[in-house]
Amino acid sequence: MHLLVTGGAGFIGSNFVHQTVRERPDVQVTILDALTYAGDEASLAAVSDRVTLVRGDIADAAVVDPLVAEADVVVHFAAESHNDNSLTNPWPFVQTNVVGTYTLLEAVRRHSTRFHHISTDEVYGDLELDDPARFTPETPYNPSSPYSSTKAASDLLVRAWVRSFGVQATISNCSNNYGPFQHVEKFIPRQITNVIDGIRPKLYGKGENVRDWIHVEDHNTAVWTIIERGRIGETYLIGADGEENNKNVVELILELTGRPRDAYDLVSDRPGHDMRYAIDSSKLRTELGWEPRYDSFRDGLAATIEWYQANEAWWRPQKDATEAKYAELGR
Ligand code: NAD
Ligand code: DAU
Repeated sequence: MHLLVTGGAGFIGSNFVHQTVRERPDVQVTILDALTYAGDEASLAAVSDRVTLVRGDIADAAVVDPLVAEADVVVHFAAESHNDNSLTNPWPFVQTNVVGTYTLLEAVRRHSTRFHHISTDEVYGDLELDDPARFTPETPYNPSSPYSSTKAASDLLVRAWVRSFGVQATISNCSNNYGPFQHVEKFIPRQITNVIDGIRPKLYGKGENVRDWIHVEDHNTAVWTIIERGRIGETYLIGADGEENNKNVVELILELTGRPRDAYDLVSDRPGHDMRYAIDSSKLRTELGWEPRYDSFRDGLAATIEWYQANEAWWRPQKDATEAKYAELGR
C-alpha cells in the first residue's frame, strides 16, 4: 500500500508516520507538508530513510495532483491547528483547512483515491460542566472559533464530495491529543517546558475548562482501524474517556516534576473559550472493535514529561518565540 500523509511533519502526523513505519513495514509512505512553524523535519529524523518528504502546500493543485495519482490512500492531517493563533489571524486557517481540503478532495475525485479526513471534536462546540451528555456522530455542528469553524467547513466538504461525487472517504473527529513531538504552543507541552525553564504554568481563566485527553498513539491506532475497516461516508468519533479539567492537569504536571501543586498562575482567558469537550466513542468501539492501549492518563503524562526532559534539543528552538507571542496576548 502506498500512503500519502498530509501534515506528516506535525505532531499527530509525525507520530502516525512513526507508528506506521514501526508496525506496518509493507506500507510505503510519502509525506506532503508545507513545514510551517508547526512542522519540523526533525520530528521525522528517526524514519527519514524509510519515508519520502515532499515540501509543499496542500492548496497547490499542481503539487497535490501527481502525489495523489501515485497513492492508494490519502490520510489528511495537515491543518492550521491552534485556536489562539486563529483568534489572532484567521486567514491561514481558511486557506489551509478549507481551500487545502477542497484541493485534496478534487484530486482524490479525479484519481478515485481512498481518503481519510482527520478532524476534531471542536466542530460540535462545547458542553456545560454539569451536562451528562457527550458528543456523538449525531451531535449538531456548532463550532466556536475560527479554527473549529474551518475544520467544520472541511468536514462538510468531505461529506458533500462523498454524496455528490462518490468520493471514497471517511472522517474521524478526535478529542485532545498529548504525547511526544507536540508543539510547545499547546497546553501540556507549554506547561511541561515552562516547568523545565523555571516559569510558573499558566492557566486560562479559572482553569475549570475540561478536555477529553487521548494519547496520540491511541488516536493513530484508531485512524488505522478506520482506514482498514471504516465504512465509506461514515464519521467516527475517537476518544479514550479521558476527561480532566485544566487545573487538575497542571497540578499533576507539577506533582510529577516534584514541584508544589499550587505553583501556577491564573492568566486572562481565551476569548470564546469552549468549556468542555467529551467524546462518546462507542460507534468506533462496537462497530470496528477499536480499544485504546493507554489506560492511565497519569502514566501517559509522566512518559510525556520524560520525553520533553530528554528531547530539549527538539523543542528549545520554538520556545522563546512561542512565549513572546503569548506575552503579547497577556497569556
Ligand atoms: P500540527 O499543527 O502539529 O501539525 C500540522 C502540520 O500540517 C504541520 O506539519 C504543518 O507544517 C502542516 N501544514 C500546515 N499547513 C499546511 C499546508 N497548507 N500544506 C501542507 N502542510 C501544512 O497539528 P496536529 O496537532 O498534529 O493536528 C493534526 C490534525 O489533527 C489537524 O487536522 C487537527 O485539526 C487534527 N486534530 C488535532 C487534535 C489535537 O489535539 N492536536 C485533536 C483532534 C484533531
Ligand atoms: O479538542 C481537539 C482540539 O484540541 C484540536 O482540534 C486542536 O487542534 C488542539 O489544539 C486542541 O485544542 P484546545 O484549544 O483544546 O488545545 P490547547 O492545547 O490550546 O488548550 C487546551 C486547554 O488548555 C484549553 O482549555 C485552553 C487551556 N490552556 C491552554 C494554554 C496554551 C491554558 O489554560 N493555558 C495555556 O497556556
